[in-house]
Amino acid sequence: MKNQVSCFCVFVLSVLSRIVSAKVDHFYEACSVRETCGDGQTITFPFYVREKQQPFCGYPGFELSCNSNGNPILNLHNIDYIIYEISYINQFVRVSNAAVFEANNANASCINISSHRIQNVSLPEDRFALLPNQSELVFLYNCNSSLPGELLRYRDGICEDKNKTAGTVLALVRNDTNLENASRACSGDRVLAPVDVYARNGGGSGIGKVIKRGFLLNWTASNCSVCEESGGKCGFNASTYHFKCFCTDRPRAQQCHPGKANGRITNVGIGRGLATRVHKTL
Ligand SMILES: *[C@@H]1O[C@H](CO)[C@@H](O)[C@H](O)[C@H]1NC(C)=O
Ligand SMILES: *[C@@H]1O[C@H](CO)[C@@H](O)[C@H](O)[C@H]1NC(C)=O
Ligand SMILES: *[C@@H]1O[C@H](CO)[C@@H](O)[C@H](O)[C@H]1NC(C)=O
Ligand SMILES: *[C@@H]1O[C@H](CO)[C@@H](O)[C@H](O)[C@H]1NC(C)=O
Ligand SMILES: *[C@@H]1O[C@H](CO)[C@@H](O)[C@H](O)[C@H]1NC(C)=O
Ligand SMILES: *[C@@H]1O[C@H](CO)[C@@H](O)[C@H](O)[C@H]1NC(C)=O
Ligand SMILES: *[C@@H]1O[C@H](CO)[C@@H](O)[C@H](O)[C@H]1NC(C)=O
Ligand SMILES: *[C@@H]1O[C@H](CO)[C@@H](O)[C@H](O)[C@H]1NC(C)=O
Ligand SMILES: *[C@@H]1O[C@H](CO)[C@@H](O)[C@H](O)[C@H]1NC(C)=O
Ligand SMILES: *[C@@H]1O[C@H](CO)[C@@H](O)[C@H](O)[C@H]1NC(C)=O
Ligand SMILES: *[C@@H]1O[C@H](CO)[C@@H](O)[C@H](O)[C@H]1NC(C)=O
Repeated sequence: MKNQVSCFCVFVLSVLSRIVSAKVDHFYEACSVRETCGDGQTITFPFYVREKQQPFCGYPGFELSCNSNGNPILNLHNIDYIIYEISYINQFVRVSNAAVFEANNANASCINISSHRIQNVSLPEDRFALLPNQSELVFLYNCNSSLPGELLRYRDGICEDKNKTAGTVLALVRNDTNLENASRACSGDRVLAPVDVYARNGGGSGIGKVIKRGFLLNWTASNCSVCEESGGKCGFNASTYHFKCFCTDRPRAQQCHPGKANGRITNVGIGRGLATRVHKTL
């Protein structure tokens, strides 16, 4: 009797596993693979890495690439930003200008401004926005080489421009009381670089570190948590231009197994376990 029962169990399990494994949807499978550029940060919805992940695993406008150091790179209006931190829960990234980082070969003692590496940030406003409560550094180009004494310290932390194309360059925090006078002494471009709250104590030799520390951008995309909590993988259908929740059996509009709040987690767990076991034995 015991043998019959266990035989029956094995039979049921094998049938079940065949059904489950046959049904694992290929969208679900494709978007289940954990990806990183190498630095350990998980890249997942709404982001996806060009050539490593399918665009349908992400959201339009959230394509990333990887640099040779293993950092994810976000390109916004033709400027590359290194992503240092992604908070999927709070929907923000901490980024800094990649060209500035690369020009300074990891030594933050001065900022290399040659060929105007610091540029105004231009955001696709429907997707990304600067988080509030951040500050800005104002870079002033082609300043008078004989500056009044109170403005001299704003040159600190900027690498000497051997090319002399930018002239003397000053960097001030946006609310610095000397900004108006400094602007009067400079005739070139004015570039604003956002910096996060820790940068508030001003310019000086610390500006290299502050620029590399970067700034925070929040993003707007479909909320993934309902789909994810139902055991699905978030994605997007570019042809219908709709959010998709890829479930083990098939894509759905919002979430997997709607209404089965408790049963679904164990179901998904068993499904995954069996599916991987069957894959190994095949
Ligand atoms: C950075 O450059 C400065 C000046 O050239 C030098 O004194 C310092 O040791 C360098 N720091 C690192 C970490 O290379
Ligand atoms: C700044 O970058 C330019 C171009 O990459 C390079 O030629 C120059 O030596 C750099 N300057 C400093 C001070 O690192
Ligand atoms: C140096 O200046 C020349 C001409 O003014 C310019 O063509 C070149 O790109 C500049 N180089 C750098 C590294 O800024
Ligand atoms: C910004 O800072 C002010 C004052 O420190 C604080 O009251 C406010 O909550 C902050 N806002 C955000 C969005 O963090
Ligand atoms: C630079 O400053 C000096 C002293 O304040 C002044 O005489 C000179 O006209 C200024 N030059 C320019 C180009 O503004
Ligand atoms: C600029 O503003 C920040 C906070 O908003 C403050 O901590 C800092 O002292 C201000 N700097 C100047 C020069 O007023
Ligand atoms: C700006 O310059 C004028 C004239 O040189 C001077 O009187 C004034 O005190 C300066 N303002 C600040 C905030 O230093
Ligand atoms: C950067 O943005 C500021 C403010 O929007 C603007 O005044 C300035 O001209 C811009 N600089 C460049 C180089 O476009
Ligand atoms: C960023 O966050 C602010 C405040 O939290 C919000 O008002 C804004 O809509 C958000 N922007 C984007 C692009 O998500
Ligand atoms: C996403 O939706 C969940 C559940 O409705 C909610 O708790 C969460 O705050 C939302 N997240 C964002 C960033 O709006
Ligand atoms: C998008 O929708 C079309 C039409 O319904 C379908 O053929 C296609 O497989 C879907 N693609 C994704 C990634 O969901």
